[in-house]
Amino acid sequence: MKNYITIALPKGRLLQQTKEYFEKYDISIMEESRKLDYVDEKNNLRFLFVKNSDVPVYVNYGVASLGICGSDNIYESGFDFLKLGGLPFGSTRICLAGFEKDRDLYFSPYSEDNFAKEIKIATKFERFTKDYFSKREIPIKIIKLSGSIELAPILGLSDFIVDLVETGATLKENNLSVIEEIGKTEVKIIANTSLYKINYKEVDNIIKRISI
Ligand code: PRP
Repeated sequence: MKNYITIALPKGRLLQQTKEYFEKYDISIMEESRKLDYVDEKNNLRFLFVKNSDVPVYVNYGVASLGICGSDNIYESGFDFLKLGGLPFGSTRICLAGFEKDRDLYFSPYSEDNFAKEIKIATKFERFTKDYFSKREIPIKIIKLSGSIELAPILGLSDFIVDLVETGATLKENNLSVIEEIGKTEVKIIANTSLYKINYKEVDNIIKRISI
């Protein structure tokens, strides 16, 4: 089998932006119905289409040499990667959000008896949320979900959510508001260190073409 450079790409809204961006550099990425990989023979590249949060897993275990991944998912994975650059799209805010009426619950978490109330936060960003609030010594309980996070406060599962806010449309449609912006994500190119050492010339050539 030919020795392609394998790149794990995040499915979902980042994929369309990635395809359009790569197209400018004459790198084509085509999805064929439900097929989960695509080979660009001209550039000697093989693309894997995987769930956003799984990109770091494929790169960490060397199934892919490179991955295109949000800094949020890189942090959540807990793995170390070579970061070979960034891409000029997909930056998003990470926000604490909830019902406007609950805003005070966050900003004044102490009750009359001076005990801090533990606020319940639903999120897919468990590590980030835990670290953020423990640094600020705000007691929280995390409820880990993997999608449709906005439902949690609506159904009384949590007081707030920590989630990505891009256009704000999902929050608005669910009558939720940003309570506080607590971080940002950027799209990065990550590399498996061992595979990079083997293929660094070829990988550097690709990175020079596409990275900012
Ligand atoms: C992300 C995020 C929010 C939404 C925000 O979800 O988790 O739900 O996008 O975008 P907006 O501010 O433009 O409305 P995604 O669509 O990736 O799906 P998910 O709910 O399965 O995580």
